[in-house]
Amino acid sequence: MLLHGGMNISVYSDAGALSRAAAEEFVQLARGSIRSRGRFSVVLSGGSTPRRMYELLAARPLRESVDWSRVEVFWGDERGVPPDHPDSNFHMASAALLEHVTIPPDRIHRIRAEAPDRAAAARDYQLEIARAFQVDGAGVPPSFDLVLLGMGNDGHTASLFPNGEAVLEGRRWAVSVEAPQRPPPSRITLTAPILNRARDIRLLVAGQDKAVTLRAVLQGPHQPRRTPVQLIEPENGRMIWLVDEAAASELDKAVVA
Ligand code: 6PG
Repeated sequence: MLLHGGMNISVYSDAGALSRAAAEEFVQLARGSIRSRGRFSVVLSGGSTPRRMYELLAARPLRESVDWSRVEVFWGDERGVPPDHPDSNFHMASAALLEHVTIPPDRIHRIRAEAPDRAAAARDYQLEIARAFQVDGAGVPPSFDLVLLGMGNDGHTASLFPNGEAVLEGRRWAVSVEAPQRPPPSRITLTAPILNRARDIRLLVAGQDKAVTLRAVLQGPHQPRRTPVQLIEPENGRMIWLVDEAAASELDKAVVA
């Protein structure tokens, strides 16, 4: 791992090694949070890299290392499809992880992005988060223990897409968005104001198709409207980029050496 201008970047040989490291770190963070605060609140992401990580967490030996009854699950974004649809982020996380561990159902907070009124569903999700943390739903956002995010090759993260209005959001915790060129287009996403309150953020990026964008994000100018993942800068938390060698292949050696 290297500290580069305040950034932590860990490079792994391939997506498998990255997923293993991310799963092991999930366990460490979960154990630490449960020890100090009695529970572990985690924001899950969609995408292919996290799926492998979830599958590892759902199997021995990692499954036995976490007290799942104290885990509280949220999502960073959701597509406008029913929860049993193959494109649903909830469905993916359920099949890969949640169906294999015992988390109390009232601690699983899915985003109801299939609702016809998505703006209302986004407001409801903000209130649901507030209730789970016992904080004012119109006040300062709470701090998740861990936020997992991916990055698309257009520089989006969660469903914060280039040049979208959600990128400019400075107050609401969850908003409804239309994703450009990415089916299914209608989504709900958490916003930078709440994501950046997290205690820990892990950005999982694998694959050659991400290499040029990753270089622009980590070494290029700060242009979060064009590359929204640059909005992710924890206020007080720790953020680590977990990347594989293919995704890191365009970075200057000094950044990852
Ligand atoms: C989504 C995700 C999205 C994802 C990136 C990276 O619902 O689409 O939350 O932000 O993390 O697109 O996805 P991959 O890991 O599959 O490349």
